[in-house]
Amino acid sequence: MAKAFSGIQPTGQIQLGNYIGALRNWRPDPGSYYCVVDLHSLSQTWEPAELRANIRSTAALLQALGLGEGSHVFVQSHVHEHAELAWVLNCLGRMGELSRMTQFKSKGRGKADVSVGLFTYPLLMASDILLYSVQEVPVGEDQKQHVELTRDIAERFNSRFGPVFTVPQPRIAEVGARVMSLRNPAEKMSKSDPDPNSKILLSDSDEAIQKKIMTAVTDSGREVAYDPAEKPGVSNLLEIASTLCGEPIEALAARYRDQGYGAFKRGVAEIVVEAVRPLREQVKELLSDPAAIERTLEEGRAAAEREARPMLDRVKQAVGLL
Ligand code: TYM
Repeated sequence: MAKAFSGIQPTGQIQLGNYIGALRNWRPDPGSYYCVVDLHSLSQTWEPAELRANIRSTAALLQALGLGEGSHVFVQSHVHEHAELAWVLNCLGRMGELSRMTQFKSKGRGKADVSVGLFTYPLLMASDILLYSVQEVPVGEDQKQHVELTRDIAERFNSRFGPVFTVPQPRIAEVGARVMSLRNPAEKMSKSDPDPNSKILLSDSDEAIQKKIMTAVTDSGREVAYDPAEKPGVSNLLEIASTLCGEPIEALAARYRDQGYGAFKRGVAEIVVEAVRPLREQVKELLSDPAAIERTLEEGRAAAEREARPMLDRVKQAVGLL
């Protein structure tokens, strides 16, 4: 069984792409760690009260997914080794390689008021992963480049200072690794999209989900078919539905082929509603028992520290700080 590490930023806007591309592929295996990466959330503007609440609701979501049993759920800032290792890796990462990160290019390059944290963020992510000697990092397509940078940094460190880090692999699902915006299927679904109809939030009501799917952009023609180049809108809905209900894309497409977009979207909406509702309800229930969330996070913190502390010591030893 491969040990895994993954993380999610605590925003109040966790969307279906996060779930399909990442969360649903996180397995509650012993020795795997799933992290609410609150320090990463400081890399763009934030409101302290909102952040505090979002850390708890994101932890509740991970707990609702069963990740607090078997695997460990914790908050990044509770384990100070993450920030400490990040400094060491900041001194090994190179300006050139960080400048090539497409996420930084799309969010920040050329903007004078962008934080330094947004630029060095992939090195904090590398620290998260490398502290736990994991083989796998289950993520959506947009994080692949960051995991590849993590591999490069691990290899650079090991060749200079000796074999300290396990070199991890990204684990990316074949279908659903890049869920697209419902309003513009050329762009990925994203929490930062200002158009609320572009994304389905895991906190959305059944009615809101139905409305968003029914108004999703489809393509010209009437036929329901999987063809990402020619029919990106319909193909995105087919991928969403297939990953959530487990039926192959071809079978779904065949069922709706001649029924028109209206019937197809009603079918997709029902699948999404049925997938999101139990999560939304469980999160709500868990949030009414904050002590249970605290217990999970405390167990997670203790387990994470048991791995992170000796690993940071090995790093300090290797680089000459100890
Ligand atoms: P974040 O919080 O933006 O997203 C969490 C996960 O959701 C995936 N994702 C998507 N997958 C498919 N389609 C989409 N439209 C979509 N949008 C988001 C992301 O790929 C991600 O897997 N830097 C990371 C968090 C992080 C991390 C880590 C991840 C910090 N440290 C260590 C793995 C390991 C981020 O901001 O993800």
